[in-house]
Amino acid sequence: MAINAPRGTKDILETEVLKWNNLEEILRKICRDYNINEIRTPIFEYLELFQRGIGDTTDIVQKEMFVMEGSVEEGGKSYGLRPEGTAGSVRSYIENSLYGKPQPIKMFYLGPIFRKEKPQKGRMRQFHQFGVEVMGSYSPAADAEVISITYEIFKRLGIENISLQLNSLGEGDCRISYNNAFKDFVGENKSELCDTCKERFEKNPLRVLDCKERACKSVMSNAPKTIDHLDEDCKTHFETLLNILDSMEIPYEINHKLVRGLDYYTRTVFEFVSTDNTLGSQNTICGGGRYNNLIEECGGKSNGCVGFAIGMERLLIALEGINSPLVHELQLEPVDIYIGSIGDKGFTKAQSLVYELRKKGIRAEADILGRSVKAQMKFADKLNARYSVILGDDEIANNSCKLKNMETSEQNEVNFSDIEKLFNN
Ligand code: HAM
Repeated sequence: MAINAPRGTKDILETEVLKWNNLEEILRKICRDYNINEIRTPIFEYLELFQRGIGDTTDIVQKEMFVMEGSVEEGGKSYGLRPEGTAGSVRSYIENSLYGKPQPIKMFYLGPIFRKEKPQKGRMRQFHQFGVEVMGSYSPAADAEVISITYEIFKRLGIENISLQLNSLGEGDCRISYNNAFKDFVGENKSELCDTCKERFEKNPLRVLDCKERACKSVMSNAPKTIDHLDEDCKTHFETLLNILDSMEIPYEINHKLVRGLDYYTRTVFEFVSTDNTLGSQNTICGGGRYNNLIEECGGKSNGCVGFAIGMERLLIALEGINSPLVHELQLEPVDIYIGSIGDKGFTKAQSLVYELRKKGIRAEADILGRSVKAQMKFADKLNARYSVILGDDEIANNSCKLKNMETSEQNEVNFSDIEKLFNN
């Protein structure tokens, strides 16, 4: 029996790859404009990094990690396939002493991410994130810069049905003050919550705020708001961020229930949510925020950080939804010339000729299946070849062949050495 790809994973084949290439090109260009450099970190790390960074009680760490047995020479320390890119980026910042370089360090990553979730539209077990992390700045200008990148991405891609949701969770004492007020509130209404939230409340109370169950939503509509508990510094940070966004003319909505599913956030959190139905329930295309304590939690010296990640598959679904030319009716590049052949000598000459042409940057193909001339020409048609030739004993003896323009069917005699001149432009 044939073996299929694991559930929640997907092959990205020929024309589909063209969509990814188009999108990645635009993302890389935006990073260039923002002076952000690429980093590539391993796709697996010590499990402990994710437990400490993302948080032991989060859904991601508790239920969604792909865990692997560690090696004996490392004392059997378990590995985890990365369920996001921020923890690995922070580990890399510390390990490579990037804090010793002029700050801030701005980095982007683009690659596979793994979460053992129940697959559905826009939710996979292996998906891809494009993420940006800015490390070494406590300023709200860094938050604004990071948000403006994402806004600019949607603009350049022509995605308009999108809403920026913003909140501030505070940090330190104001976070404790909020948690206490929130726990009191939930304590009074606990009986009305769904079973998951009753459990969640003990381990990770803030997650109750954004539960999608109707009963919980109704209770949470009266919950205390994080921004009412911000201390002066956190409040000024948030207000300055809003002022900068206003000056950039970036529209936003304050969402008091936005808390995000990872524990490392401090102060600003944000999401870009699709406002049409293209993505169904998985309508968050981008999530991010500030994480000022993560470096310290991972063993480094505390510093201000902020970033985001976009789910590439969800972004592609959004692009399909608006019929973007970046993803529609894409065709594989046509072949410049097809070198067909008759007989053994012709076959060998065809191989050496395509080799020479390819070295010159000409997209050339020859028969490598030993097919009949008719079948070879059919194949040349399928490849959308612009020109074709057939090489046999006579052609080899004369060092020339009949070059056929596949569009007009016009034929001209050319020397082998002149073929490359056709493509010199
Ligand atoms: P996140 O919200 O967990 O944040 O994920 C970011 C994005 O990844 C989501 O908005 C979504 O588009 C995509 N995504 C998440 N899970 C799946 C899935 N199972 N299938 C397909 N796409 C998915 C983070 O990962 C943070 N590290 C973001 C961040 C960077 N915060 C600060 N810096």
